[in-house]
Amino acid sequence: MRSKILAIGAICAALMSLAACGKTGAAAGSAGVEHVAFMMPDQTATRYDKFDRPQFTAALKALCSKCQVDYYNASNDAQTQQAQFESALSKGAKAVVISAVDGKGAQAMVAEAKSQSVPVVAYDRYIAGANAYISYDNEKVGELQGQGLLDAMSARGTLQGNVFMINGSPTDPNAADFKSGAMKVLTGKVHIVFSHDTTNWDPTDAQNALEQALQRYGTKNIGGVLAAADGVAEASVAALKSAGVNPMPPLTGQDAELTAVQRIVAGEQTLTIFKEAKPEAQGAAQMTNALLTGGKPETSTTFENVPAVLLKPVLVNSGNIAQTVVQAGYYTREEICTAQFAPACKAAGL
Ligand code: GAL
Repeated sequence: MRSKILAIGAICAALMSLAACGKTGAAAGSAGVEHVAFMMPDQTATRYDKFDRPQFTAALKALCSKCQVDYYNASNDAQTQQAQFESALSKGAKAVVISAVDGKGAQAMVAEAKSQSVPVVAYDRYIAGANAYISYDNEKVGELQGQGLLDAMSARGTLQGNVFMINGSPTDPNAADFKSGAMKVLTGKVHIVFSHDTTNWDPTDAQNALEQALQRYGTKNIGGVLAAADGVAEASVAALKSAGVNPMPPLTGQDAELTAVQRIVAGEQTLTIFKEAKPEAQGAAQMTNALLTGGKPETSTTFENVPAVLLKPVLVNSGNIAQTVVQAGYYTREEICTAQFAPACKAAGL
């Protein structure tokens, strides 16, 4: 019996992981392992689970073999995220990488982490006080959406029509930037009759809002719909269809969701914005590793005084699917061009 216990002890020592030996309790962390919390905001956008998480995990592992990424997804609930944050800290997280559900509220988390000397990387969504911040240029995202909508309206001859804006969550700092970028392009050029901030990016809220707006303003004179991301774009298509609109008017999105790319092929959505996860995740991994080892995060600019990297978003429409999302390995042609979309794919040259 004693030798068995010793053997287990030896295995534990070899693994250098006390956690593997069932150690629990207050002493946070495990010898030899550095916990890093990767905290994403929601599952309505598939990007976080599907692309950001594996890319960040692989990138950090390549830089820091003893790092262990603990993944959390807050399902769009700020309180859940707060609880996940507390649990990450008590588990001994040495760094926290977070895409905040509530950007302002998350400042308290940054303060708490700092008081325990745990650095914070603001991932995709800005948080004041973070040690570093990486995102895409969110104002530029909005500009691309606005310009893409304008171009499509002009091509379709709907420049005089009513424009409906379905914006992102008011607690997401990016949403304000998407909106201001779009407004920069659209102000004075089109007639915006309706602008709705979607609670927590909730597609049901977006659909209800647009359905009511279509009842109010009618469906005869639709110029276009500026939807801030693909989740609310899908909800907008549902609202337009339930109001009997056909074909779809010019309509934007963001995130290059598979279903959005398929809607673009099928002519139900004009464009999406591609923000490849790899450079964002790699940049965040570099920042995290530098902060863990006392080095300097590689940044190229500052955003409200926080050292930052802002990557360049890319517009995707029916003309460049192969050169963007397919080439980057996001989706294969086969994944996009299922039986239902095969004829449309053929017509689009995919
Ligand atoms: C934004 C993010 C987008 C999209 C959206 C909904 O902050 O930049 O890529 O995912 O949230 O989660």
